[in-house]
Amino acid sequence: MSEQLARINIMGMAGSLRQASYNRAALRAAMELLPAEANLDIVDLAPIPFFNEDLESQSLPEPVLDLADRAKKADALLLCTPEYNYSVAPVMKNAIDWLSRASTGEPISGKPVALMSASIGMFGGARAQYHLRQTCVVVNLLPLNKPEVFIMQAQNKFDADLKLTDDYTRGAIKKLLQALVDWTRLLKGV
Ligand SMILES: Cc1cc2nc3c(=O)[nH]c(=O)nc-3n(C[C@H](O)[C@H](O)[C@H](O)COP(=O)(O)O)c2cc1C
Repeated sequence: MSEQLARINIMGMAGSLRQASYNRAALRAAMELLPAEANLDIVDLAPIPFFNEDLESQSLPEPVLDLADRAKKADALLLCTPEYNYSVAPVMKNAIDWLSRASTGEPISGKPVALMSASIGMFGGARAQYHLRQTCVVVNLLPLNKPEVFIMQAQNKFDADLKLTDDYTRGAIKKLLQALVDWTRLLKGV
């Protein structure tokens, strides 16, 4: 009898609020490219307020509670960030800052994470991803090393409906997701 593998729940966040965002579109593409044994819960970060310690002394804003709850339920994370001025876009950093706090229960600490970035430039957001890896150290996220997915010149990789049409990039995201599932199983022993 074949052994039944536990499903892996991945929470996805994109660090752009733009309607026509390539990073959000890359997360939607990931939904189509998931291994059969994984789920992807994509969180909308638009309602998350800027982090402010004053908000922690009251009951937390509802969208933050929802984010923390979904992060708690996730076995792993998938983060897709734009690069702004050579670093992580503030929408992404803000969400991580909230999730790093005792007030939210630090629900990402110790969890595996895979990183992607999409940029209209030639470097595909590489500089932002390496800054994000630095943040992973302090918040105790456990990033997958390889494969790395940098979607460069994103304007040429998505069609007018923001569907990812580039076969190489689709293949790279598919490999990343399988590697994240394998990495999660290794860490959790499931
Ligand atoms: C404030 C700002 C700074 C940017 N800085 C960079 C940068 O350092 N490197 C880069 O490759 N692209 C940079 N860009 C261009 C982004 O790659 C591009 O806007 C991209 O489409 C943003 O991601 P999105 O499509 O998911 O919104 C910058 C864009 C903005 C608005």
